[in-house]
This record gives sequence, C-alpha cells and structure tokens, in this order.
Amino acid sequence: MKQQALAAKRFGAVAQEYLTSSCHARGVDLARLADLARELGRPMALDLGCGAGHAAYALAEGGAEVMAYDLSAEMLTVVEEEAARRGLTSLHVRQGAAERLPFDDGSFDLVVTRYSAHHWAYVPAALREARRVLKPGGSLVVIDVIAPEAPVADTLLQTVELLRDPSHVRDYRVSEWAVMLQAAGFSAPETDMWPLPMDFAAWLARMETSELRAKAVRDVLAKAAEEARRHFHVEADGSFSLDAAWLRTTRTA
Ligand SMILES: C[S@@+](CC[C@H](N)C(=O)[O-])C[C@H]1O[C@@H](n2cnc3c(N)ncnc32)[C@H](O)[C@@H]1O
Repeated sequence: MKQQALAAKRFGAVAQEYLTSSCHARGVDLARLADLARELGRPMALDLGCGAGHAAYALAEGGAEVMAYDLSAEMLTVVEEEAARRGLTSLHVRQGAAERLPFDDGSFDLVVTRYSAHHWAYVPAALREARRVLKPGGSLVVIDVIAPEAPVADTLLQTVELLRDPSHVRDYRVSEWAVMLQAAGFSAPETDMWPLPMDFAAWLARMETSELRAKAVRDVLAKAAEEARRHFHVEADGSFSLDAAWLRTTRTA
C-alpha cells in the first residue's frame, strides 16, 4: 500500500481517539494559535492535516475563517460533528493531501499544521503548496514533534515511531525544518520548543499498535544507548518525553 493510503487508513480507523486524546486536545500552542488568529484579525486560515480538528477549533475560536484539511474522510466527519457541537460556523472541511492542495494561489492569510507533517510523504512539495496558497507576506506555523540533532537519539525516535505506526515518515530536526522552509520560499523560522510527555500505554493505544510491535518498541527503548534514553527521559513503564516545536515563518516575496 502507498504511504498516503496507509496514513489515511491508519488514521481513519482511530479518528475518534484523536478527538479525546489529551496531548492533542490540550497544549499551550492551542491558545497561541487562537491569539495569532486574533492578532491577524479574522484571517482566512488553512489547517493542513487537521486530524480531529484541535488546531482548527482554536483558530476558529480566535475569529478565523478556517478550512480544515486532511487525508482522512473519517477525521473530517469527526471535525464537522464537533464543530457543529461547538457552534463554530466559520469552520469548513475538505479532503486531500498536503502535497497537492485544491486551493487557488493566494487564498489564505495563515497556514497552520499541527502534529501532522511527520506523516507527510514529501514535505518539500507540501511546503511549496503552502507557499502557493498563501498571500504574499502570509504566515505559516508548523507545530510538530522534533528530532534531536544527535544521531543516536534521532535514530531511536524514528525507530519507535515507525514500529508504533507504519505510516510514520520522519520527525525532522529544527535544522532540517529551517533548510526545507527556506528552500520552499519562507523566511528563517522563529522557533520555540517544549517537552511533550507521552504516557506509553496511551501512546500505543491511540494508534492501535499490535502487541507484537508494542513488544518491539518496549525492547528497543529498554536496550537503547544510555544517552538516547536520557534524552527522552525513558521511564520504567516505557513512558517518555518528546520534544515539540512551534516554527513560525513568513512567505517571502
Ligand atoms: C496526529 S493527527 C493531527 C492532529 C491535529 N492536527 C491536532 O491538532 O490535533 C495527523 C493527521 O495528519 C493526517 N495526514 C497524514 N498525512 C497527510 C497528508 N499527506 N496530507 C494531509 N493530511 C495528512 C492524518 O490523516 C491525520 O489525521
């Protein structure tokens, strides 16, 4: 199965879990997105890889007219139902891949993506599309899990991510984001990072990881090099702490 079909199938099967997942439904970054929408004054905003819609709700609550966009039809059904429950009439949904956007050039003031880009088959293509659909001077905010610069910890992260979810592509380093964003026609990003604690059982359950693969994840984490285990603060039950980042950048002329 091709990667995008794999991602759509995996996420479609667990769409409801992402609505209630605490690490997706909460986070200081959501209030920050609402503030950004307020600061921009009712912007036209696009949420790429909206999942169960938490970034999109925050933007709509901040006054944005939001297009919530995702590969998975099941995720979009969850978003439509939840938006209606919250009375968010300025939120619309559309299905598709980040790498190819069905929107006209210069349609949006703001493009946001939260915890989705590490699932994209080809980030450079998606960034070029994000730039195309932004108005000149428009902003892009990427929020995602970040890989450590140290290869020993980076490899551990990608390994457990792929074992947990076969549609995982790559958590990028901040240095890789800076290069990809500037190559796609964006300014050097302003970056903030914070720890994202992961409860081991909930992290596996959310993706319905099989017992075989869960056993492999436990083994890989338990026997990893000390400096990598220390980086992720691996605990006795397998719980650990990821790094998340907010990268804000602007479309250059
Ligand atoms: C972890 S969820 C996103 C969480 C959500 N943004 C939030 O704020 O809670 C990842 C989402 O990315 C979507 N996705 C994966 N690859 C994609 C792609 N190439 N284009 C668009 N969406 C994609 C999946 O279908 C899934 O719904």
